[in-house]
Amino acid sequence: MKTALVTGITGQDGTYLAEYLISLGYQVYGLVRGQNNPKLPWLHELIPDLRLVEGDLLDQGSLIAAIAKVAPDEVYNLGSISFVPLAWKQPELVASTTGLGVLRVLEAIRIASGNGSPRCRFYQASSSEMFGKARETPQKEDTPFYPRSPYGVAKAYGHYLTINYRESYGMHASSGILFNHESPRRGPEFVTRKISASVARIKLGQQSKLALGNLDAQRDWGFAGDYVRAMHQMLQQPEGGDYVIGTGEAHSVQEFVEAAFEQVGLDWREHVVTDERFIRPAEVDLLRADPRKAERELGWKPGVSFRELVAMMVDADLHNVRENPDALFVSTL
Ligand code: NAP
Ligand code: GDD
Repeated sequence: MKTALVTGITGQDGTYLAEYLISLGYQVYGLVRGQNNPKLPWLHELIPDLRLVEGDLLDQGSLIAAIAKVAPDEVYNLGSISFVPLAWKQPELVASTTGLGVLRVLEAIRIASGNGSPRCRFYQASSSEMFGKARETPQKEDTPFYPRSPYGVAKAYGHYLTINYRESYGMHASSGILFNHESPRRGPEFVTRKISASVARIKLGQQSKLALGNLDAQRDWGFAGDYVRAMHQMLQQPEGGDYVIGTGEAHSVQEFVEAAFEQVGLDWREHVVTDERFIRPAEVDLLRADPRKAERELGWKPGVSFRELVAMMVDADLHNVRENPDALFVSTL
């Protein structure tokens, strides 16, 4: 039986990945931080077979101890501060968590292996945000990076470091350059979930307006449950590598809004207002993946279309609001 350690276990991708790995017969450990992480009861209920180990990406010693305890065959580094606007407000924290956190995990793996080449395989959650002000469209593995946020810069550091550990220490280390992926488990601060949650509340009479920023930005949105299969597949290859993961289709924020309101039979123009607070200091205008390498080498393809994703998220939030009207929080960040 293989053992995997997943950082970022309380996040969207961590839960889908843990469920997937457990379904494949893995023993899965999730790294949790804090003395009383508020998401733990939810996590226990969602994935009863998951094991937990303490650790923080800001604390090298805790990562060394976690790797020593778990002795994983595979490490998936999904932990990060992942909300782009926060990166302008707390750039040093983002640099340390999202950037240097990668170094700390890689060092913990290297130290655990003594002098030899680390046997443990490593996955880094790289991001299409690294393409930023994209030099070409669609973006592929060798498209030059032009990050537009401290978050994108931190991800680029982690990405190059992963390549460097592969080349310096012979590690099986891979980066998934993942384009935006969403689900009913997406944090409410991200635009898709903010829209789906608001549409549900508007439909059920609990909210009247939805304030958004730039409606023209375009993203390549896929379903998170599909994307975690690609992460695992990367670590099963003979050698580590970098892979772009996305659908190959871009849609604007406005298109997402239109589809979400359509799903409940409402006209978005009567509810959506734009608000300067949600405009970013520097925007990423258009991200669209060229995922052909992943299809060719990993046999990976997305399974959920844009319309299916919107419907899945809106339907899930309608259910949430009906079941527990107070549980949803629409972020004002
Ligand atoms: P998410 O829902 O925001 O989850 C982030 C995770 O990081 C949470 O489990 C959080 O744990 C953990 N974390 C934050 N600070 C930490 C620290 N100091 N030490 C340990 N863990 C810490 O993110 P996601 O959407 O699942 O994304 C997973 C990864 O993929 C992230 O690295 C993200 O940057 C990257 N990515 C995401 C997308 C996307 O579209 N979703 C696309 C490309 C790349 P707490 O519960 O303790 O806060
Ligand atoms: N969050 C948010 N809230 N975004 C808004 C809003 C709003 O009210 N209005 C418009 N947008 C626009 C943003 O300006 C951006 O262009 C787009 O919606 C998507 O924003 P997010 O959903 O916050 O995601 P992101 O693209 O910035 O970042 C996500 O994807 C990256 C991969 O490309 C995150 O998951 C990152 O962690 C990930 O690396």
